[in-house]
Amino acid sequence: MLQKKRLLMLPGDGVGPEIFSALKPVVAWLQSSMDLDVKEAVSGYNAYLAHGVTLPRDTLSLALDSDAVLFGAEDNEAFSTLHPAERPSSALLELRQKLGVFANLRPVRINPSLVSRSPLKPEIISGADFIVVRELLGGLYFGTPRGIETLPDGKRRGVDSLVYFSDEIERVARVAFELARSRRNKLCSVDKGNVLATGALWRDVVSSLGRSEYPDVELSHMYVDNCAMQLVRRPSQFDVIVTENTFGDILSDCAAMIPGSIGMLPSASLSQQDESGRRRGLYEPIHGSAPDIAGKNLANPIGTILSLAMALEHSLGTPELAKRLEQAVEEVLETGKRTSDLGGDGTSGTREMAQAIADRLQA
Ligand code: IPM
Ligand code: MG
Repeated sequence: MLQKKRLLMLPGDGVGPEIFSALKPVVAWLQSSMDLDVKEAVSGYNAYLAHGVTLPRDTLSLALDSDAVLFGAEDNEAFSTLHPAERPSSALLELRQKLGVFANLRPVRINPSLVSRSPLKPEIISGADFIVVRELLGGLYFGTPRGIETLPDGKRRGVDSLVYFSDEIERVARVAFELARSRRNKLCSVDKGNVLATGALWRDVVSSLGRSEYPDVELSHMYVDNCAMQLVRRPSQFDVIVTENTFGDILSDCAAMIPGSIGMLPSASLSQQDESGRRRGLYEPIHGSAPDIAGKNLANPIGTILSLAMALEHSLGTPELAKRLEQAVEEVLETGKRTSDLGGDGTSGTREMAQAIADRLQA
């Protein structure tokens, strides 16, 4: 018998909880369509207030026991009043590390009915359809030494370390090459090899892997500054982009302006494949906790709903349900329903949008 799949929901902070509560009818549809065990737990600032830590042990062990974790948002700003040395660590970064999710997939596609929402001209964004594969467990985010120290002369010094090992580069490049093979067979590797040692290593490792294992994939290299420019100049040139952690963070926000709202974009963070070919995954919208609109029923739930679709495809073994969910989102947008970030007049909020998508799924 097939084992029941396990999904853990972590609404977190800011707009996370209201999006997750609006998602209930979508999750109900899912549970009527597959054998799925759904649990919910706390994380982030809300967990810190209740338990004194951002990632309680119970939450972590549930996450480690799940096939997929759907993550809402984390309010890092909430800690800004605390002294840097006393700020709790980020639950999101700890989760990424403990789950071993090194490959972060951030697809960018334009919904035809939203072309006019993009700040870029229609002729520029036309045909854009690509995925940024961001390395998620290395580089500046985790490198040591790091910290802020006060020197004897009273000056303060902040240090972060940009470190990459060749095997870290190779495993994420492999995910990107495979993805390119399943799409239009083009991979663009992005680095800053003209200045950074890690960048030169990055280029060298990706090139050799391409030569030895993926000679059929059309591989190109681009410096990150040029890539930022090319993303807004001619995004249709890209199929799969692979890059290091910090560059991927920045480029994916930049790319979010192609479809016009960061509220639309999902992401999947994947671990190594197990024997059955499945990857454990952490799924989250690209947007943050948006404290300015939290609690107002304004947040767009689509980034989270499409992240759930990615979970269905990559970790829960139901790609056909992923398709249905994506299609339902598409159909609702075609009817002209819009949250405010998409230019809506305020009549459709978080709840109404999620409900409309759930209604499509039931239809
Ligand atoms: C993202 C976010 C996170 C990151 C923050 C919230 C830690 O910006 O997922 O892009 O920098 O990775
Ligand atoms: Mg980011």
